[in-house]
Amino acid sequence: MAGPELTLESRPWRSEDAALYVQLAADAFRIVSPWARPKDSVEFVARMHSELNPSGRAIVAIAHSAGRAVGHFSAIPWRLLCRDGRTATGWQLSCFAIAADLQRAGVGTKLVGAVLQAVAAQPADFAFVYPNPRSLGVFLRHGGRYLDQSETLICLPRKRRTLTTPDGSRLSCTPRTAHEVAPLVQSIPEVPTRPGNFVKDRSWFVWRHLGPDADARTRFVQVHGASEHFVLVLASHRVRGIEFTVLVDVYPDILPDRFALVLEAARYAGGGRPVYLTTNLRRRVASAQGAPWTISVPRWADPRSVGTMIMPKTTLADEDLAHSAVLTGDWMSF
Ligand SMILES: CC(C)(COP(=O)(O)OP(=O)(O)OC[C@H]1O[C@@H](n2cnc3c(N)ncnc32)[C@H](O)[C@@H]1OP(=O)(O)O)[C@@H](O)C(=O)NCCC(=O)NCCS
Repeated sequence: MAGPELTLESRPWRSEDAALYVQLAADAFRIVSPWARPKDSVEFVARMHSELNPSGRAIVAIAHSAGRAVGHFSAIPWRLLCRDGRTATGWQLSCFAIAADLQRAGVGTKLVGAVLQAVAAQPADFAFVYPNPRSLGVFLRHGGRYLDQSETLICLPRKRRTLTTPDGSRLSCTPRTAHEVAPLVQSIPEVPTRPGNFVKDRSWFVWRHLGPDADARTRFVQVHGASEHFVLVLASHRVRGIEFTVLVDVYPDILPDRFALVLEAARYAGGGRPVYLTTNLRRRVASAQGAPWTISVPRWADPRSVGTMIMPKTTLADEDLAHSAVLTGDWMSF
């Protein structure tokens, strides 16, 4: 089948593109209820693509057909610390939506080609994506390769009266608004990025999680004790009538060193509800020993499995990206 007549436009992102994406996503994702798509707000999409990102402004490709915009796809830059100490620029392919009446007609495949071409014209070491099952075929056709697979973990519910560190010292958990978190993150020291990981430093966190609509999508909890001080970014999600606490992110980037404590804190701060998270760290870090009892959701039962996929034409060695830490917020759904 020939597919629709298309014009493809790719360029640096502009603020009016956010409303176009949100409108297309409402159409493309109409099978998913709006409450399950908390990231699809104009404010959030605009912030994610703007130059507030410490890695720079996004690029976008838009497909037009018969005088209307029918597809949106973008690439958002990140910094990755390579094993040799170099900082590489990687572009995360994101915000992919095709008008419902034109899906499965080849538009998405052409848009991926347009974005990859636009990325290649930027300072770019690699492009990567965490595909969903619907978009997977399109990325495979463009030569995408999985380098890693994350687990979807459910940490079983348990109510506790107090939160303590493994050595027994007590931690306080205080709900905070985004406005209150802003000065807090200025006072909590960053942790150095480990080679082979994306840079998730203070400026990254402020851009990613502290936008004007942050309190509508997520909630923040300050965890504080004699030797610990961190901020959890949490969300809520309902699946088959069960309310989950989603562990979206944590500042500073301590999950590799404090895996068990961060999960326990999310469970405590979420009122003992089950905690949902996506990560590839559980089998890799010693700090996961002693983590609360978790179930790894089997791939066949996972509504959103997450794998790290690299696209071709990269200057990066696979090993620099293959074991980069993934946490729920990284695949951009919250
Ligand atoms: C996922 C999505 C972006 C893909 O875009 P698309 O335009 O539908 O993609 P394409 O048409 O290029 O390819 C999709 C499938 O249609 C098939 N196809 C392409 N042209 C076709 C044609 N002319 N006739 C019949 N089938 C065709 C492709 O072979 C492909 O099959 P496969 O994925 O099983 O290999 C789009 O379907 C969408 O917006 N879905 C809802 C939102 C979503 O899930 N976004 C992804 C977030 S990561």
